[in-house]
Amino acid sequence: MVKSLRSTLHGGLRLGKVNIFPNREALNHAVASAIVKCAQHSVALRGRFSIALSGGETPRSIYQLLHQVPFHHQMPWQQTHIFFTDERTVPPDHKDSNFGMANSALLSRVPLLQENIHRIEAEDPQPKAAAHRYAETLEKFVPRRHQLPQFDLVLLGVGTDGHVASLFPGTTILQETAQLVAAVMVEKFKTWRISLTFPVINHADNIFIIAAGSEKASVLKQVFISNSQAKFPVQQLQPEGTLSWFLDKEAALKLPASK
Ligand code: 6PG
Repeated sequence: MVKSLRSTLHGGLRLGKVNIFPNREALNHAVASAIVKCAQHSVALRGRFSIALSGGETPRSIYQLLHQVPFHHQMPWQQTHIFFTDERTVPPDHKDSNFGMANSALLSRVPLLQENIHRIEAEDPQPKAAAHRYAETLEKFVPRRHQLPQFDLVLLGVGTDGHVASLFPGTTILQETAQLVAAVMVEKFKTWRISLTFPVINHADNIFIIAAGSEKASVLKQVFISNSQAKFPVQQLQPEGTLSWFLDKEAALKLPASK
């Protein structure tokens, strides 16, 4: 059973389409299938597919699914261009690296062209320089539409504090409008992160937000039923294209629609 609802403005966020799945397996299959559909559509329309992958734990099993039957054979790998929403300031082979996770779960197992894999060079001791270089990479390799590089698809997870990508509560990057990519000091981890900013995320043709597990239920409830001013970074999303949520039943437990 899949529950689906469409919602409008909540606390500033246009909620888009909300899909709720009975378990993690159904969620993973639905996301993998939606990624394939988006990729095929983009290639049919424009001859290529640009996707920004998120890090964190949630997408790992989705990435693993994409190199399995039937998805492996359905994805237009040769026309797919891989980017990242954000990165931790560690080398690519570090256990915390978002690239490292995506690479071992998916990228190293499928026939992508190496030159189409664009990682954030976050091992650079100067995170601002790495962010600047990644913005140049976007300018060069993500087609501009209406003044900004436009991804066909941006995948996002959401943290229990309402962050998406590395756009954490109380950080200066939330107000960034000039740069496509920025480095930000995240005090709670006492570390720098490098992240796409809201203007380029919002400009994507499609955004998928994926959340699983009961630890996400509380923040999602607040995001979905809040009528007040945006309180969480995820509520700063103002998608210019489509926004789709993919939630498992546990993450959606406190949403009115899941009862
Ligand atoms: C990262 C992210 C981040 C992530 C959320 C959710 O580098 O950690 O890209 O925004 O998507 O923190 O993480 P989980 O999937 O681990 O809950």
